[in-house]
Amino acid sequence: TAGKLWGGRFTGGQDPIMTQYNESIYFDRKFYSQDIRGSIAYARANTKTGILTSAEFAEIERGLQQIHQEWESGSFHIHPGVDEDIHTANERRLAEVIGKDIAGKLHTGRSRNDQVATDMRLWLREQIEQLERYLVDFLKVITARAEKEIEHVMPGYTHLQRAQPIRWSHWMLMYGSFFASDLQRLREVKARVNRSPLGAGALAGNPFNIDRDAVAEELGFESVLMNSMAAVADRDFVVETMQWGSMLMTHLSRWAEDLIIYSSGEFSFVRLADAYSTGSSIMPQKKNPDSLELLRGKAGRAFGQMAGLMMSVKGIPSTYNKDLQESVEPLLDHVKTVGDSLQIATGVISTLDILPENMHKSLTPDMLATDLAEYLVRKGVPFRETHHISGRVVALAEKEKKPMDQLSFAQLQGVDKRFDEDVLAVFDYQKSVEMRSAKGGTSRSAVMEQIEAVKKALAGE
Ligand code: ARG
Repeated sequence: TAGKLWGGRFTGGQDPIMTQYNESIYFDRKFYSQDIRGSIAYARANTKTGILTSAEFAEIERGLQQIHQEWESGSFHIHPGVDEDIHTANERRLAEVIGKDIAGKLHTGRSRNDQVATDMRLWLREQIEQLERYLVDFLKVITARAEKEIEHVMPGYTHLQRAQPIRWSHWMLMYGSFFASDLQRLREVKARVNRSPLGAGALAGNPFNIDRDAVAEELGFESVLMNSMAAVADRDFVVETMQWGSMLMTHLSRWAEDLIIYSSGEFSFVRLADAYSTGSSIMPQKKNPDSLELLRGKAGRAFGQMAGLMMSVKGIPSTYNKDLQESVEPLLDHVKTVGDSLQIATGVISTLDILPENMHKSLTPDMLATDLAEYLVRKGVPFRETHHISGRVVALAEKEKKPMDQLSFAQLQGVDKRFDEDVLAVFDYQKSVEMRSAKGGTSRSAVMEQIEAVKKALAGE
């Protein structure tokens, strides 16, 4: 414990396994630049309180900038067993660079408790901005394709049974709508991440009347976390980010699942690019949608990280407890997993081939049974009755072993006298999709309106 920052009150040594168990430097080193930025802002504020002279501040700033350079160039040497975490490593090094008399003043009134929360929030804010860009790119590809490929009609499913004809673009925009909500949610999460814990101290607040608002402003935070105990105890921002990521991954997983089904030989609606597929080590003909399977699989991992952290924090007493260090690793992996997944999904959808003839071939006349019932509704028959009549037409077609649209007009009239000659016009898939022109439906104009809505969401409108 001799070299440790907190070694003063200790006489006994630490079990080497405890040292290893306790240290976080091998993962929180990721925050080196945020840690340095935070320290510079903190030191500047402490110049105003009179803790540091301007000359001392200049020395601290110079030293920290040099340390930043060392991290950037890979020349920073971690001292195993001494550099417990990124905060202690940087401070240890600062003392070496500028001397311990001045370096020793930096941490006045500060605690690693407000420091780590600051580092994590600064880091996460940048990551969220990157994730936002990935998500926007993904949505742009979805809307561009939806616009370009609007004419293609395919089966829409419920229970994975053919239900009603829809536009391929409408399917894409179903997910576009999910992902646009995810984008909105991400922006909301960002606002709550972007608040400053710095100046909260260990838990009770800063005794030197530091200007927390000025520190927050220098670091680009939107506001300060008001209660000092909440500021250091809170990992809601980590949980919330991972809840957001879990929801996004759930959507990506369902999207991937649809595409896995649509790319199977039995469907053949889409063909995945080689760039996102892999082969089999034994079966030469295989082309497997591994990218999509990984998206589906990684959704479980992302959700597990979120659930795991909630378990870790649910029972800890106020305020900082070392359990909170367990929020770092899942967050790092979660953010990477989600970011990679968004890039893969964008790659997949940008390079996917569609096979509209196969989509069209999979449409069957019974998918127009609802349209047939609606035909009679337009003649004034109550829907419940028309549902029954159309059902009898379906049964008749089954009995005759004929597709519904191959029944004769006489046969239809045999089921119900209210069918007129114009009933045969019902059996038209294009007409069916165009009928659904109310807001949010699958007609061309309704789909175009959805594209505009997603574009507005992208712009944050
Ligand atoms: N590495 C620690 C973490 O990630 C920093 C805070 C340590 N604070 C303390 N009081 N031991 O949570």
